[in-house]
Amino acid sequence: MNKNKISIVILAAGKGSRMKSSKAKVLHSISGKPMLYHIIKASLEISNDISVVIAHQKEIVQEQMNNYFNDINFITQDVKNFPGTGGAMKNVDPKNEKVLILNGDMPLIDAKSLQDFLTIQADIIMSIFKLQNPDGYGRVKIENEQVQYIVEQKDASEDELKIQSVNAGVYAFSKDVIKKYIPLLNNDNAQKEYYLTDIISMAKKDALSIKPLVVDEENFKGVNSKKDLSDSEIIMQRKIKEKWMALGVTMQLPSSIYIEESVTFEGECKLENGCRITGDTIIDNSHIKSGSVIQDSVIKNSDIGPMAHIRPASYIQDSHIGNFVEIKKSSLKGVKAGHLSYIGDAQIDEGTNIGAGTITCNYDGIRKYKTIIGKNVFIGSDTQLIAPLTIEDDVIIAAGTTVTSGKVQSGSMAINREKLRILKGFYYKFFKKINK
Ligand code: UD1
Ligand code: CA
Repeated sequence: MNKNKISIVILAAGKGSRMKSSKAKVLHSISGKPMLYHIIKASLEISNDISVVIAHQKEIVQEQMNNYFNDINFITQDVKNFPGTGGAMKNVDPKNEKVLILNGDMPLIDAKSLQDFLTIQADIIMSIFKLQNPDGYGRVKIENEQVQYIVEQKDASEDELKIQSVNAGVYAFSKDVIKKYIPLLNNDNAQKEYYLTDIISMAKKDALSIKPLVVDEENFKGVNSKKDLSDSEIIMQRKIKEKWMALGVTMQLPSSIYIEESVTFEGECKLENGCRITGDTIIDNSHIKSGSVIQDSVIKNSDIGPMAHIRPASYIQDSHIGNFVEIKKSSLKGVKAGHLSYIGDAQIDEGTNIGAGTITCNYDGIRKYKTIIGKNVFIGSDTQLIAPLTIEDDVIIAAGTTVTSGKVQSGSMAINREKLRILKGFYYKFFKKINK
């Protein structure tokens, strides 16, 4: 793929009023990343010249994208004087002869679908799909396989509203077409905006060839509302899960599982229903049981859950983590923590057993402290480990102990229990008193 042949312009300056949100539309997330991220990522697979048109919350949009990508040209739209998708193109100066223009609210787009625009010969190629319910999209009038014009929903007549061919929002133009027609656009329409889509009828009058490329909603769906956002999320989730299943990941009831696009799987993995796996997580040869949540962590040769919560920066290898165990920023190797524990800022070594109800008390209200536990340590149930703390190899912590010593030497046992007292007959005396 020669990435120097085509320029791509992504329109991301709009407010997105229909989202009913204070956040710019293109920053709403799908599968863990802003919509605009997905579009730029697909675009970079086929082009080196990517321009993103911004205006609304432009600093935030730019800053967020700069976290992910270098070498994106940001262009500011004069939304006050030239609002609309046509206005967005005013200051754009693409490097290459052929230019793809994409709406910034199409997170499902992939590089392969974009490449299809390069295979057709015409002055203008525009994407269309047919919908039973075309609500919200611009309608495309087609006659004799040639596009005649696009009319926006708000400007359409009764008859035009019935047209089921809609403008998907991707166009291939030559640079000359852009240079010639963008300055000629006007805002004589219902929204008083400069519509990019008006180029079509103008070019048609000048007898340019305009070909439709039929695309499918799976890849081109536009997001205008929270409902569209959730519909697109469902589609992207299905794609992500189908990809991993094809690569050998077993999933029970995949529709109940959520996996972000940044997650990777290696070896043979099994996911039970209801798991949520997010961020930069790597799951390697492991079994994640139902209802578990894993964020930004590495899980290797281990089984997790059901209903375990693995929080960011955890590294879990050769371990068994059972139900209601929360782990944060900890590294566990060859460890069993079967039930009901909080392990935070800890490092735990091979052969160690963490009993039910163990808590690393890692926070004193101001700072966080580390707990380091060596090999073959047996930690009894209901234990508080007050950090900073080092427990060396081969140690027993008796059930019910609060370890306050900072260090427990190898070979020892730590125990601090009240002596048990059994008061014979107390039960009967006590309740008799109460019932009086
Ligand atoms: C647009 C098309 C419509 C098409 C639909 C496909 C126009 C006039 N209409 O409508 O025919 O069916 O996409 O999804 O183009 N934007 C700017 N600057 C602006 C306004 C918008 O950059 O001044 C950006 C937005 O951030 C967004 C994209 O352009 O990413 C599309 O804008 P939007 O308002 O969603 O257009 P639609 O009404 O969906
Ligand atoms: Ca849209």
